[in-house]
Amino acid sequence: MHKNYIGEINGLVGQKVELKGWVQSRRDHGQLIFIDLRDSTGIVQIVTTSDSCKSAYETAQEARNETVISVTGTVRNRSEKYINPKLATGKIEVAAEEIRITSSAKEVPFPIDTDGHEIDEFIRLKYRYLDLRRPRLIHNLRIRHQVIQFIRNYLTAKGFLEVETPILSKATPEGARDFLVPSRLQPGSFYALPQSPQQYKQLLMVAGLEKYFQIARCFRDEDPRSDRAYGEFTQLDLEMSFVTQEDILSLTESLFTKIVEEVLGKKVFQKPFPRFSYDEAIKKYGADKFDLRKKKDPDVMALAWVLDFPLFEKTETREISSTHHPFTAPKDEDLPLLDSEPMKARSWQHDLICNGLEVGGGSIRITNADIQQKIFEILGHTPEEIHQKFGHLLEAFKYGVPPHGGIAPGIDRFLMAALNEPNLREVMAFPMTSGGRTAVMDAPSIVSKEQLDELGIKTKTIE
Ligand code: AMO
Repeated sequence: MHKNYIGEINGLVGQKVELKGWVQSRRDHGQLIFIDLRDSTGIVQIVTTSDSCKSAYETAQEARNETVISVTGTVRNRSEKYINPKLATGKIEVAAEEIRITSSAKEVPFPIDTDGHEIDEFIRLKYRYLDLRRPRLIHNLRIRHQVIQFIRNYLTAKGFLEVETPILSKATPEGARDFLVPSRLQPGSFYALPQSPQQYKQLLMVAGLEKYFQIARCFRDEDPRSDRAYGEFTQLDLEMSFVTQEDILSLTESLFTKIVEEVLGKKVFQKPFPRFSYDEAIKKYGADKFDLRKKKDPDVMALAWVLDFPLFEKTETREISSTHHPFTAPKDEDLPLLDSEPMKARSWQHDLICNGLEVGGGSIRITNADIQQKIFEILGHTPEEIHQKFGHLLEAFKYGVPPHGGIAPGIDRFLMAALNEPNLREVMAFPMTSGGRTAVMDAPSIVSKEQLDELGIKTKTIE
């Protein structure tokens, strides 16, 4: 099928084109009808008059907003006084010779030419495929693509290998609840969706890859917040062998500086990124994430590092838990504290913060099986649990494990800061509702008795 893209017709004055797209709007001036036609590359004005081409004119009369049409016509210059400087195609228009309706459209349930913040989010998510016609959201998806593409090119040029790790897997603790998937072949057993590829990326270091990354989907069942998606989100997950913390910070810093300056065209608040110890951050800002900008200039991204975190923390639900995750290495000089005062031990954790959000976290990892075992014990795991949950990692460490470490900046969270959006959902194509239902498809849903029987599952109503 031939199609001229609207973004490419400015130079085609005097030529015949075939355009296909959606009716953005229609202005009927009696004998003269204008249609603003939209495709994925732009908008252009179509003109049709009753005396020039009757059948095109009659079809234009019928074409409601959002109808899919195809238009054959000639590109011509607009006269001086009708030039529209706001439109990329504002100097031209297309005189229609033929208009065909490909697919008619019902009236859309909400306006799609506004920024959309004023519309109830529930209805926006139900009709996300219409919501995504909104220029703001298209722009967000475009920037998301450009950022991810830049990351891939940058890391590939530095010798990193992109590897996909399993989604159906075993629990990797990152502090949230797991999503479980029942196994049909082993009834009564469950896969867990990964909260992050943490253990696989460490196993890839044992495998000898040395430089790995992945644009990784992570799954966490935790209470949502504006900067915390319920269900799933995306990380740039990376890991390197034979590196110090300094190497990881330096690579991440040059990558994100380039993204901010070259992809987003914004300014980095301070270079190199300022560094704070956890204690300093708490003393100065009362939190381990903060906004360094005095005025919240949307074109400035204030990136900073927080280091020297405590290895353990006390949470509401657990007596003692890892501040980052249990694979994070204690500082060498604090190793003796593991036996005496573990809460005083500091770790090799590093958090990247940006405009008040924690956009990334990582660490140098434990590669000594004895220290790893001790950390699991301090966290309250019994020897059987350690064997059952983490035996594979401890076993892998017996076959020549390189020192390694990494980081995982959250793609959604970074974009939320970069695009000055109030929540993560605005930078995701099909986010879940805050109540944990998927956009459009409205999962989770009831499944048939046959499917449950096959899985050996009986459901019960919980009061
Ligand atoms: P962590 O759990 O700190 O580390 O996550 C890293 C980054 O992922 C993003 N993130 C989220 N984004 C949206 N919604 C969520 N629910 C959510 N949870 C986390 C944040 C966060 O900074 N495996 C380690 C990384 C490592 O040690 O290399 C990990 O996942 O931007």
